Formats: sequence, structure tokens, C-alpha cells
Amino acid sequence: MEKHASTKPLSRNPHLLRWVEKMVALCQPAALHWVDGSQEEYDHLCGQLVASGTFVKLNQHKWPGCYYARSDASDVARVEDRTFICSQSKDSAGPTNNWVNPYEMKKTLRGLFSGCMQGRTMYVLAFSMGPIGSPMSQIGVELTDSPYVVVNMRIMARIGQKVFDLIDEDFRRVVPCMHSVGLPLAPGQKDVSWPCNKEKYIVHFPETREIWSFGSGYGGNALLGKKCFALRIASAMARDEGWMAEHMLILGVENPHGEKTYVAAAFPSACGKTNFAMLIPPKAFARKGWKVWTVGDDIAWIKPGPDGRLRAINPEAGFFGVAPGTSHSTNPNAMAALSRNTIFTNVALTPDGGVWWEGMTGDAPAECLDWQGKRWTPEMALQTGAKAAHPNSRFTAPASQCPTIDPDWENPEGVPISAFIFGGRRATTMPLIYQAFNWSSGVYVGATMGSEMTAAAAGAVGKVRRDPFAMLPFCGYHMGDYFRHWINMQRSLSETPRIFHVNWFRKDKDGKFMWPGFSDNMRVLKWVVDRARGGGRAKETPIGWMPRYEDLEWEGMDFPREKFDELQAFDRAAWRAEVLGHEELFIDLHAHLPKELLFERELLICRM
Ligand code: GTP
Ligand code: SPV
Ligand code: MN
Repeated sequence: MEKHASTKPLSRNPHLLRWVEKMVALCQPAALHWVDGSQEEYDHLCGQLVASGTFVKLNQHKWPGCYYARSDASDVARVEDRTFICSQSKDSAGPTNNWVNPYEMKKTLRGLFSGCMQGRTMYVLAFSMGPIGSPMSQIGVELTDSPYVVVNMRIMARIGQKVFDLIDEDFRRVVPCMHSVGLPLAPGQKDVSWPCNKEKYIVHFPETREIWSFGSGYGGNALLGKKCFALRIASAMARDEGWMAEHMLILGVENPHGEKTYVAAAFPSACGKTNFAMLIPPKAFARKGWKVWTVGDDIAWIKPGPDGRLRAINPEAGFFGVAPGTSHSTNPNAMAALSRNTIFTNVALTPDGGVWWEGMTGDAPAECLDWQGKRWTPEMALQTGAKAAHPNSRFTAPASQCPTIDPDWENPEGVPISAFIFGGRRATTMPLIYQAFNWSSGVYVGATMGSEMTAAAAGAVGKVRRDPFAMLPFCGYHMGDYFRHWINMQRSLSETPRIFHVNWFRKDKDGKFMWPGFSDNMRVLKWVVDRARGGGRAKETPIGWMPRYEDLEWEGMDFPREKFDELQAFDRAAWRAEVLGHEELFIDLHAHLPKELLFERELLICRM
């Protein structure tokens, strides 16, 4: 038994103790470790990960408290085709989810998990999604055989003894989460630096509120509080209880009068949430007193407050952010957040014990080791196109280290939401910005979102697919019922947030981005906030309200009117094809589709 391992239960809850005992009998780990969440324990586990070859300790002068990991080349992203929603009926999972009968799946899982932790330690990891004790928070316990998962979860969630204390009071709310990398060790067998199994199962039981994940150690497949709990299971809870679990960032805009307006935005994976959440306004805005505050970068739990307005919390405590493209010029706040106490996975390692990724600096290092540990030079990259960092390489950094973290980011009551923004990665068709006419047309905009696929999930990259509300891979039930839930939410609100759609990624005929993005997205955000507060001028178009050139603030930017008109252009032919794409999705979902969306579609076609 390892020296620091805590074999003594940290909870007295009989239900928890019995479950752990049953799972130990099933998985047959060599040791049991109740995770107390202390710094001392974290340091010890990181030391152990260094010894086992999973972690490299980075140059502590340059990267204090930071570690570096390389995953197996077959375990680098979410695996949507291996992700399952196992509700009693196939119809409740809907056509956009993989479904297997829950009894059958349980049988499969019992087989997979039987003896799966032999030769390894099982960690009992209690976590709270949301601030400890907030009425909007939820509790889970992850049993995992991956110390890498434990140390990442300590950054991403509130974990340890304080959560066990809550469970001792009440076990009923706990979501049990089973996780194994799926590589048992025979006596004397040497471990690999990134254990995993080529057979992967990411399984959710939305009715009994359980999660079972097998075979992967990476990101959302393994940090079960994130996509599995806070989106797939929580979306089912939220439908039943009248709230919303969304793939959204949350930010606050402070205007020159010191008034704050909070906005939540849903963009698909690797489409700009982290960057938008940490936006730094252009100089001309900052000088006047505009400031953006960060509440969350990936997930929002949103609930009607006593005043009939929506209030949102960030259920997470850290950022699991895309590394490539993150730099001091694109996102200085992220660079500050990841400058210490951060875990880097699948970026490149420089000879001086630092990290690098494409887009981090103008010049690449003369040489480094790539995400697979092979020598990499800029010259080699020119010839082969090989990337030093994997396109889905990530940093795990504490949210508290973000310079613009909102003073209210851990407010147990959440922050009031005045606007929703939807957006995708679209080279054509979608303008930079427009506003939906009202709640139901806004729900239509969210429901029909499209985006080019990214490296965040295994599979084809670049193809446009429908990704309603950026939730296609994350909704724990029938997408048509989820749309209805959105429509119905209006009834519990005295004031609905205004709804917008943005596209930072429109390209010109040479394939270049037409909009500089990042900091300059503030120009769009200001218009959104003005509109949400009842000001801001706009003109009516077939798809919604749009700013004219003179309705945006251009100070400090030389962006000609003709270019803006091109960026905002409404192309009738392209939109006709777009609406056909909407119909394809609607045909798949037809039996559960709210009629409001069919009417919205008819109205849109009429206006066009
Ligand atoms: P997940 O964590 O996967 O849910 O992704 P995310 O939505 O938080 O994506 P993120 O902000 O990390 O952005 C992903 C990529 O898009 C990065 O490479 C960014 O550099 C790039 N990106 C973000 N904002 C912009 C923008 O305004 N313009 C352009 N051109 N690229 C952007
Ligand atoms: C995403 O893919 O949307 C992510 C990364 O935020 S992961 O947590 O791996 O799902
Ligand atoms: Mn995400």
C-alpha cells in the first residue's frame, strides 16, 4: 500500500460505504484510496505520476506547479460513437443518441468492469458540481483507477472531505460515476505511461442517474463531472425539475456606468467559448470603462430565480481549454490562468522544460518533442505538415487564476442572465451577428445551429453538421423534447433573455477569415448588451434584427463599410439550402418536435 494513500473511509454514510464495497468486489483493485482533496495529497499523486512516467514536471522557474502529460495516440478526444444514453425506451434517448437497452448494457458493463482494476488503486473521489452548498449544486462520487483523473478533477471541481461531509448528511442526491481506464495489471506487469483500452464505453443511465465510463483516460470521457454529469445527466434532471443544463460560457459585461449585464453563449466544441468568456475589450473600449468578467467557459446551469429571471452558475472550478491558438495576443487571460498550477496534455515539450503549441508564439521553438514524444522542428513541419501539439491538446487550469474572474463567479445564487448567444463555425451563409425576433424564433435559431466539426471529437473535421444549442453530443434525452423544454421555459419567466446568433468564422473567397475576432468581438458584444438593455439600433431582415454599419462602435478599428456589408450579407440561395438542412434535422426528430418550431420554420420561409 502506498504511503500517503488513505484507506480509511472519509465518509460514514452507509449507502456510500456499501456501494464502494460492492464496486471493490466487482473491480478488484489492489488498493483503495479515499481522496481528501488536500494540497499534500495532490502533490503526492503528482509525484507518483512523475515516477510512473505519466507526468513530466515542467521547469518550475518558468512553469511553477505545472505538469505535462502525453496521452496514447488512440485516446485524444471525446468518442461520440462510443457514447451511450441507456434509458428504458429507445424513444426517450431519441435518434441523435446511441441507445442500448439498460439491462443489456449493465450486463456488458459488469463484464467489462469485472476485475478491471486489478493491480491498480481505486480512488474514491467525491465532487461537487457548483459551489459547495449552493442550492443549484449537485454531488457525484467517481470511483476511478486513474490518478491522472483525480488530479485533473481537483482543478475542475470542488472535491474531497468537504463533499464527503455533505454526503454524510444526505446520500440521496449523489450521482454514482464508475470510471476505469480498462487495463488491469497482472502481478509484476509494468504499467504504460497512458493506460487505456481500445474498446471504449461512455455510458449514461439518465433515469437512475448513473455514469459508467470504460477504456479512456482523456477529458470528457474520464473527468466524469464535466460532460457526463454536468450536461448529459444534468440535462435530464433539469428537464424534470424545470431548469437548464447548457454547453454555455457565462460572462459579465461592465459598461462605463459600472452596470453589469450577464450573457450566456453556446458555441460547439472548439468554437470559441473559452476565448469569448475571457475577452479583453479593444483599447478604445477599455479607455471608456468597458470591462468583461468571466464566470465560466464551458457549462452553465440556469434556473428561474424568485424574481422570474434566469440565474446561472458555472458548475465547474477550472478550465479544460483548447491549447492551440491560445496566446498572449489572442487570449492573455487564459495565458495568465495557465501560467502556474496547470496540467498540460498533448501539447509539445520544449528542451528547457516548457510547453509550446501552434499559435502560442509567432516563432516556433527551433526544436521540441511533439505530443507523441517525437523530435519536431519547424522545418520538418513545413515538409510534412505535422503538428507539434495535437489539435485537441488542452490545459487544465484553476478558474480562480483567471485575472478577469467575476467577483460573483461562486455566488451560490448565480448571476442574472440577460441574453443568450448562439454561434457556430461557418465559412459561409451565417452573418457576423443577428438578433432573433422573440423567444420562440430564438429557440428556432438555437435548434437549427450548424457548425463545422472540430478535433474535440474523434471523426471527420470540417464538415458542417447540425449541432442544436451546441448540445448534440451532450443531451441526455430526446432532442425534440429538449427543444420543447426550451419553449416551455418561457412560462416560468417574467422576463426572457434576448437571443442572438454570431459567426466569427465567415471566410472570403480566398478562404481567409473576414472578421479578426477575439478582442474585436467586443464590438458585437456591446451591441448585444445594448439591445438586451432596451437600447441599440437595428434593422429588420428576413432572419432577424441586424445592426447597420453605423450601429456598431468602430473606434480604433479600420473596417470598411463594404466589408461589413459582405460579412452581414443575407444570401437568399444559401439560406434556401440552409433551411433544407433544418428540415433534415426536423424530419429525424418529427414525432417529438414542438409545433412552435414548425411554425417558426414556415414563417422564416415566408419572409425569405
Ligand atoms: P470546448 O472547450 O471544446 O467546448 O471549446 P471552446 O468553445 O471553449 O473553444 P475555444 O475558445 O477554446 O476555441 C477553440 C479555437 O477557436 C481556438 O483555436 C481559438 O484560437 C479559436 N478561436 C476562438 N475565438 C476565435 C475568434 O474570434 N476568431 C477566430 N478566427 N478563431 C477563434
Ligand atoms: C468539448 O469537447 O466540448 C470540451 C472538451 O469541452 S471535453 O471535456 O473533453 O468534452
Ligand atoms: Mn465543451
